[in-house]
Amino acid sequence: MTKSEVAFSRPSLGIEEEQAVLDALRSGWIVGGRYLQELERQFAARCGTTDAVGMSSWTTAAFLVLQSWGIGPGDEVIVPSLTFIASVNVIRHVGATPVFADIDPKTWNISPEDVERRITPRTRALLPVDQIGMPCDLPAFAAIAAKHGLRLLDDAACAFGSTLHGKPVGSWGDAAVFSLHARKIITTGEGGMVVTNDRALAERLRRQRHQGMSLSDFARHGARPSAFESYDEIGYNFRITDVQAAIGVAQVSKLDAILSQRKILADRYTAALRHSALVAPPFVPSDAQPNWQSYQVMLRDGVQTSQKDVLDALFERGIQARRGVMPSHLEKPYAGTGRDLPVTERVAARTVQLPLHPSLTFDEQDRVIEALEEITPRT
Ligand SMILES: Cc1ncc(COP(=O)(O)O)c(C=O)c1O
Repeated sequence: MTKSEVAFSRPSLGIEEEQAVLDALRSGWIVGGRYLQELERQFAARCGTTDAVGMSSWTTAAFLVLQSWGIGPGDEVIVPSLTFIASVNVIRHVGATPVFADIDPKTWNISPEDVERRITPRTRALLPVDQIGMPCDLPAFAAIAAKHGLRLLDDAACAFGSTLHGKPVGSWGDAAVFSLHARKIITTGEGGMVVTNDRALAERLRRQRHQGMSLSDFARHGARPSAFESYDEIGYNFRITDVQAAIGVAQVSKLDAILSQRKILADRYTAALRHSALVAPPFVPSDAQPNWQSYQVMLRDGVQTSQKDVLDALFERGIQARRGVMPSHLEKPYAGTGRDLPVTERVAARTVQLPLHPSLTFDEQDRVIEALEEITPRT
């Protein structure tokens, strides 16, 4: 019997999400209804913030946050290159200039020391990333931002459920933004969520996601006597639907179970790969609890086998895997703009992501581990 492929990633969707979708459809509020309010309440409660604002994606949400802070042409925003390119694109969307900082060789997250070196009189904001769910050094970035009078936007796209010093990711910075895309720890297909303690920012985001409308649909339709809305600024359509929000509410109720299953699988990989001659397991700072959105390994020092060789060998054995996080400064739109990023380039060339999702079985995981053992490292 031929073995089926080991899937790289799979969302944890089931009967709870199906029922929630039906309920949203039957409620008469396919957008802008109670499920969105509930999802926002749950995110704010989980992150300990006063507000959460649902949006159509991380990208639209982060764009609106930067725009709300008045960041635009002539301003610089410091960001890692080793990130999904969306983190960089939003800076360009508002007309500002991304300045790439290098990463820490152990955590693979943006380095506070390198960020501080790259601050200029034009710097307006820091946009660190909790890459693949591993919290970056948020207290250090909060201190740098305070010292230099900068805004701090935490790209927590991948990090819902991760904690640092026992505090949830999302509770640092002027705002943090999560993604609800299908590859994330919980998903609504597409979607984004801003969490913040800045009430004025949250209110502006709510208006701007809805063409600048001063009243939500819910408030407008429920108003007795009737209320007229106004449009004081040019806004956008960055709304998330209630069908998506209903899926999100069902997903949040499963978050703790998803986190614990991912941790069990990640710990199994780490135990098995500790002595691998080919790859090293990821480093976890003692004060961090990642959500294990992805499990990324790095070719050991001295190993000449390439990242592509490893991916091809795994694919040959029916295992889906991916290269590690991308180096954005080497992509065409940013070519020539990244300077002195040696750690980023080395890590990007030598990392591989292995299958990890709550429905991955131990048997499937053992196939991955055995496949890695079968690859003889070239040195
Ligand atoms: C670090 C990071 N930032 C931003 C994004 C963009 O999220 P979205 O697709 O919701 O716009 C992603 C998505 O993969 C991501 O991994």
